Formats: sequence, structure tokens, C-alpha cells
Amino acid sequence: MYGLNANSSNEKWSDAIDPRGENPVHALQYALSHFFPVLEIAMTYKVFIDGRHGTTGLKIDERLVGRPDIELLDIPEAARKDPARKRECLNAADLVFLCLPDAAAKEAVALIRPDNARTRVLDASTAHRTHPDWVYGLPELDGGQRQRLQNARRVAVPGCHATGFILLTHPLVAAGIVPTDYPASACSVTGYTGGGKALIARYEAPTPLPPSLQSPCAYALGLTHKHLPEMQRMSGLAHPPLFVPIVGNFAQGMLVSIPIFPRLLPKPFTPADLHAFYSEYYAGEPFIKVMPLDASRFLENDCLPATTCNDTNRAEIFVFGHAGQILIAARFDNLGKGASGAAVQCMNLLLGVEETTGLAT
Ligand SMILES: NC(=O)c1ccc[n+]([C@@H]2O[C@H](COP(=O)([O-])OP(=O)(O)OC[C@H]3O[C@@H](n4cnc5c(N)ncnc54)[C@H](OP(=O)(O)O)[C@@H]3O)[C@@H](O)[C@H]2O)c1
Repeated sequence: MYGLNANSSNEKWSDAIDPRGENPVHALQYALSHFFPVLEIAMTYKVFIDGRHGTTGLKIDERLVGRPDIELLDIPEAARKDPARKRECLNAADLVFLCLPDAAAKEAVALIRPDNARTRVLDASTAHRTHPDWVYGLPELDGGQRQRLQNARRVAVPGCHATGFILLTHPLVAAGIVPTDYPASACSVTGYTGGGKALIARYEAPTPLPPSLQSPCAYALGLTHKHLPEMQRMSGLAHPPLFVPIVGNFAQGMLVSIPIFPRLLPKPFTPADLHAFYSEYYAGEPFIKVMPLDASRFLENDCLPATTCNDTNRAEIFVFGHAGQILIAARFDNLGKGASGAAVQCMNLLLGVEETTGLAT
């Protein structure tokens, strides 16, 4: 191995800022690895997961442990909310994941010194998803999003439900297949890890599960779910969708489905037309798999389970229906492409390493 980093100490790179050229050493490493990809150029980055002991943080940690290019900075769990310890790690890191409630995510960003040109931030919370200065962490959004992410210093990782909704709707709205004032609605079934530690504790309590939690439960029935702003903005729709999330008695997995009424479209589209369109739009995307139009062999007991993509970063797209009614659906892991996997995919892009590193397709 051609290890430029012959000195095993990471101190050598401790002032590294940006693999794209702000730091001359990283610029040299990046250029060498770009022009001579057969040479393995050892590059290490200091990464801090704020909220490492929560649901999303633990799943990011799992995906990073053992990577030779990542040095994880740590705070003991008991001191995880200590602002002084956090400030130290947030400012020493090349890249930070925020896996925190919204308010804590905003506080963490405020702990980064204004003159810190080093630390890049990936926020998994809802706090910055429609903020104009933050880049939305969905590389597959359109032809330019990957490059926007590669150059970004602040990235908002999409919400889990929003990921499925936007993967399905953005291409259709952008192409004019679905008009911007379409009365969109969506249903999304999620495993209970989507509610973080608090909901996991309810479902996994040692006492018997109350009957109310044994059946799937619709929630956010005030129709003001916190993902709605990003769903509307990133889909390009003029109005928020009517969105009904449902949590089930299973840990992980997500299935987002959206009805499309061809009679409300400017031009008639059949399921075969939409399937051909998605197949072309997502061609070459390593993590987006447009499933065959005849998806009957993917049904189990005539049903489409929500859990099939668990522990991967894959999102599967399905088109069902007939000339009168179409159902488009996205299936993925709420903790994979819906959270932690997506965050690691964005990290890979920001650091200039192969996008699929450490992620199962
Ligand atoms: N779970 C999902 O499927 C999912 C998907 C996409 C996005 N997200 C988003 O990701 C974020 C984290 O969600 P989660 O499900 O991982 O939640 P979680 O399981 O509750 O974990 C959050 C962690 O952050 C810790 N924490 C709270 N305030 C903190 C502070 N000021 N400093 C340091 N640590 C602090 C919590 O500790 P305590 O428990 O002691 O407070 C907990 O360990 C949320 O904003 C959520 O909306 C989650």
C-alpha cells in the first residue's frame, strides 16, 4: 500500500480541512487518489457523532467502526450533553454527525466557532432541512445534487418518510408529469425505531405490549407532521401532501405509498409509462432500485412487506395499478436510506471517498 500517511499518528493531518483543496496536504492526497486510483492513499478524517448513543447515532457508528479512513472522536456517554466537551469535539472534527433532537442540533451548531473553516456538519434532525444555507442530503434528487453535496459544508439529512415521498414525487413534478398543484397524499408505514429511544422503550418494555400498540397505529392525525415542509419543498409541489404515517409493531423498515390518478394528470400516463420513466431517471444510481413492473414475485402472501431492505442503504421503487389508478411506492430501511445509511452516503460524498463505502446495496 502506498501510504502517504506513513506516520500512524493522525496529528499529521490534524489541521486538514477539505479534501477538495483548502488544505494543501489534503489537496495533494485528493489529487493523487483521483489521478492514480490504483494507489491507495491513506487519508484519515476525524469524525464526531453527537448523539452517538441514540438510535440514529448507534447505526452510524456501526457503519463507521473499522473504517481505516475514519477516526471517531468520543465523549463518554455520561458526559454526552456537557457543552464544554461537545465544543471541543465539534471544533476538532473534520466532519460531525448531529443525531439529536431539533433544539439540541441547533445548540450544537452554535457551539462551532464562527471562524472554524474545518468542520463540516451533517444534521439528521429536522432543524435545518428547509434552511436556505443547508444542502439537502439526497444525492439522487437531480443531476446537480451530488455536486452540491460534494461542495457543501452544512448538510441536512432527509427525514425518513420524506425520503420515500421525495424519491417518488420529485422526478414526476420536475418533468411536468404531475402538476405542481396536484392534490398529493401519502401513507407511510414505519417500524417503531422511527420514534427513537423513547418509542423503542415503549414497544420493547418488559411488560406485555398493550393491545393498542399491537396493531398498526396511525399518528400525526393533526395533519401537521414535521416532515411536511421538506416534502413540499423538495418535491416541488405547491401544497403539502395529506400525509398519514402509521407505526407498526416491528422494529425497522418503511413503505411509503402515493396514489396517482391518471385523470388528474395533464397527459395520460399508465403504470408502464411511469415505470419506464423511473427506470430511466434512476438508471445508474447505486442505491435506488426500480423494481420490475410485474412485481408479483416480490409479494409475500400477496403482500408487500416493509422490512425487505433492512440493514441496507437501498430504496426500492414500485409501480402498481391499471389505466384508471396507479400506486407508486418506495420501500427502504428507516434507519438505512431513511437516516443513518443516508448520512454515511453523504459523508462519503463530502469527504471525496467512494460513495458506496461501508454501505450495503
Ligand atoms: N429514528 C429514525 O428512524 C430517524 C430517522 C431520520 C431522522 N431521525 C432524526 O434523528 C435525530 C435523532 O433521532 P433518534 O431516533 O436517534 O433519537 P434518540 O434515539 O432519542 O437519540 C437521541 C440521542 O441524543 C441524545 N441527546 C439529547 N440531547 C442531547 C444533547 N444536548 N447533547 C448530546 N446528546 C443529546 C439523547 O440522550 P437522552 O436520551 O439522554 O436525551 C439520545 O441518546 C432526531 O432529530 C430524529 O428526528 C431519526
